[in-house]
Amino acid sequence: MIYDFRNFKGVENFAFGRGCFNHLDSILDKKRNSSEDFMVFLLDDVFKGKALEKRLPVKHNDLLIFINVKDEPKTKEVDRLRDEILQFSKQLPVGIIGIGGGSVMDYSKAISMMITNPGSSAQYQGLDLIKNPGIFNVCIPTLAGTGAEVSMTTVLTGPEKKLGIKCDYTVPNQILLDPELTQGAPLEQRFFTGMDCYIHAVESLSGTWKNPFSDAFAQKSLEMCRSVFLDHEPGIDADEILMVASYLGGLSLTYSQVGVCHALGYGLSYVLDIHHGLAGCLAFNQLEDYYPQGVKDFHKMLEKNNIKLPLNVCKNATDEQIRKMAQTTYNLEHMWDHALGKDWKNKITIEQIEDLFRRI
Ligand SMILES: [Fe+2]
Repeated sequence: MIYDFRNFKGVENFAFGRGCFNHLDSILDKKRNSSEDFMVFLLDDVFKGKALEKRLPVKHNDLLIFINVKDEPKTKEVDRLRDEILQFSKQLPVGIIGIGGGSVMDYSKAISMMITNPGSSAQYQGLDLIKNPGIFNVCIPTLAGTGAEVSMTTVLTGPEKKLGIKCDYTVPNQILLDPELTQGAPLEQRFFTGMDCYIHAVESLSGTWKNPFSDAFAQKSLEMCRSVFLDHEPGIDADEILMVASYLGGLSLTYSQVGVCHALGYGLSYVLDIHHGLAGCLAFNQLEDYYPQGVKDFHKMLEKNNIKLPLNVCKNATDEQIRKMAQTTYNLEHMWDHALGKDWKNKITIEQIEDLFRRI
């Protein structure tokens, strides 16, 4: 087979295993060349005052910013944080470290680039629009599933659209996959984020862009998700397994794509500000026609893990909101192209998408 030529950039350095977070200090030290050099730490504010905050190797002239992730990452907030960092010192930071779930890592990836590129992050939403490499970026997940630690996109909600800044410079330079950091996450949050990974694998495997390269990562990722959420195999280390599943799921999406579920999930997040993981679950719940086996197993996973999915979420949505969700979803052409093929416009209409939303 000859595939569309794509030349991917990967994470430069990665470490995996319990306690690898303890090496962050020595990793950052290699980037600190003078006493003026400083780092910016972005930490999910759920860890404020907690043990993890105290473990951060923050030096006297570093900047620590707490990130509230109640809302999905916004271009406006990226710009605001970038300005705050630029005002903090006369010189640019030598590195930025994002510690949290997908939202914090996406902020860290976006700000890394926006420190070295002028204007608003909204003008770079799209493919290969960033001109200058960002500053050194470390991503450290405290929730497993989004694949943000390895993906070449940072998904942002802008004034006009929810779309990633996607380019080589988006990929973090360094990641630390420490399963110790994901233990203790609230069960629902852990489940919904884990399902993001499961859905990445299902969508990656069912579509027209898939190939043996993406399949290899997606199949293993799917198997690992099933072992944690469905089979509950005794004696497994779920935190370790999910962390690797997330990484593999992210990698599977480089050569493949997400599909119908993510397209709908983006619409839900954009208009109703529902978090990515939950939005994906709400959409997936209605997609048995597209992913029969995946959705059947998803229902079993909900039951086995005692998760009650909110129902009738769009019941009170206005016609205008439904239209906006459907249009946002329809506009994600690459996802439809992967899911339904080049002639996808003959297979799905905006009205059909509106109907799907009304069922959510
Ligand atoms: Fe996702």
